[in-house]
Amino acid sequence: MEERQKKGGSLVFAVNGERFELPCIDPSTTLLQFLRSQTCFKSPKLGCGEGGCGACVVLVSKYDPKLKKVEDFSVSSCLTLLCSLNGCSITTSEGLGNTRDGFHSIHERFAGFHASQCGFCTPGMCMSFFSTLVNADKGNKPDPPPGFSKLTSSEAEKAIAGNLCRCTGYRPIADACKTFAADIDIEDLGFNAFWKKGDSKEMKVSKLPPYDPTKNFNTYPEFLKSESTTNLDSSRYPWYTPVSIEDLQSLLNSNVTENGASFKLVVGNTGTGYYKETQRYDHYIDLRYVPELSIIKRDQAGIDIGATVTIYKLISFLKEESKINFGSYGKLVSDKLAYHMEKIASPFVRNSASVGGNLVMAQKNGFPSDIATLFLGLCATVSLMTRHGLVRLTWEELLLRPPLDSRIVLLSVSIPFKKDKNSKFLFETYRAAPRPHGNALAYVNAAFQADVSFCQNGFLINYIR
Ligand SMILES: Cc1cc2nc3c(=O)[nH]c(=O)nc-3n(C[C@H](O)[C@H](O)[C@H](O)COP(=O)(O)OP(=O)(O)OC[C@H]3O[C@@H](n4cnc5c(N)ncnc54)[C@H](O)[C@@H]3O)c2cc1C
Ligand code: FES
Ligand code: FES
Repeated sequence: MEERQKKGGSLVFAVNGERFELPCIDPSTTLLQFLRSQTCFKSPKLGCGEGGCGACVVLVSKYDPKLKKVEDFSVSSCLTLLCSLNGCSITTSEGLGNTRDGFHSIHERFAGFHASQCGFCTPGMCMSFFSTLVNADKGNKPDPPPGFSKLTSSEAEKAIAGNLCRCTGYRPIADACKTFAADIDIEDLGFNAFWKKGDSKEMKVSKLPPYDPTKNFNTYPEFLKSESTTNLDSSRYPWYTPVSIEDLQSLLNSNVTENGASFKLVVGNTGTGYYKETQRYDHYIDLRYVPELSIIKRDQAGIDIGATVTIYKLISFLKEESKINFGSYGKLVSDKLAYHMEKIASPFVRNSASVGGNLVMAQKNGFPSDIATLFLGLCATVSLMTRHGLVRLTWEELLLRPPLDSRIVLLSVSIPFKKDKNSKFLFETYRAAPRPHGNALAYVNAAFQADVSFCQNGFLINYIR
């Protein structure tokens, strides 16, 4: 443990292809604070500072040296801690396009569709949309017609969910995004600066600023690849990245967490969007590098979800799993969970918000969590790492216990699949919130599991939870 931490290096990352190396930094510094005070990239704005408006959205790209793959996703830079970005590449709207190198067609189509008025929300909108666009075009759907992406118009609309605009109105913004969608009927799009009365459909398509998915720029610079796995030197940064359960356990029993030192376990840090942090911590323990915590798997018995799995990854997994026929109850649960969880927060929060972080907020602070309710309905069980070893409880038992001690780590959650034999298991969830499509905490949410048998006169509820 000590050996590994000493070998660590500096905090290195790239912003719009430019290398930054910080010899030391206050670990509570957010990416937004750094961008706006230490760089010339001012396009990300501070709107709410709570993950609720999208004005600060940027693209984060991570390189996986084993798979040799780059993962791109949007985040709210107001909640993302800078130390969590070691080896990452950050792209802001200036990196997507600018006056010197030329604008990206997203910028040009936003301008042409009159989708920007004061411009406060526009850089965040563009980055949220670019994140969805770049990922759609990496996917294995059939190639779209020239000038379009693999996005559908519904996906294009959802890409900017959670990005708020106070002055333009969403119609032109959504229209600018939908111009990229392969399934769009171009005649459905509104007023813009590109087309003239009488233009044919073909002319309209040809007059749009060109988009070529094969020419999407490289979001992860080559020079960063050799630096992407470096751990931070704990003598300079109070930021620890344990790489195994044993490593984590010895860290929690070491002087890092003793002698009155304050420390915080952290994953996506989105919890601070809801619970404002007034306290400064002496140390941060980043759980994302413990492999066991990021595993997600299923078999006939159920689904196991590591605590650091993000809500986005869980939804994607459930959608894929639901295509495989592994029992009607398993499919039902996957479909219902994915549908409900897509209403949690916005894409740029779900991309870094973990399932474990959500449950711990519910257990410790009584956070009005959707996931906590869903898992109660599903009789989920949880695994915890305590000072006395591993403990397994039902999620309900854990909720009834006093708030978790900060040294206890939630490792994983298991959702058991019920076996349909003579009876049938049903599962349904509900959510009532100020905005029905998501990005608003629920007033009330519910999940029901029922065991029913069908008989001549209808059906009989044997058990309901
Ligand atoms: C704008 C916004 C809207 C939201 N809307 C919804 C919603 O509609 N429904 C809903 O259910 N949720 C919602 N959330 C909550 C969101 O799901 C959580 O913030 C997120 O899942 C927390 O995960 P994280 O990785 O960011 O946790 P962090 O912020 O990193 O951690 C949260 C807390 O949990 C602790 N912790 C984290 N992981 C562990 C672990 N494995 N073991 C022990 N302690 C741990 C941390 O120390 C911290 O105290 C919303 C959040 C935001 C910002
Ligand atoms: S400033 Fe509103 S989401 Fe970050
Ligand atoms: S253009 Fe003014 S907030 Fe969107």
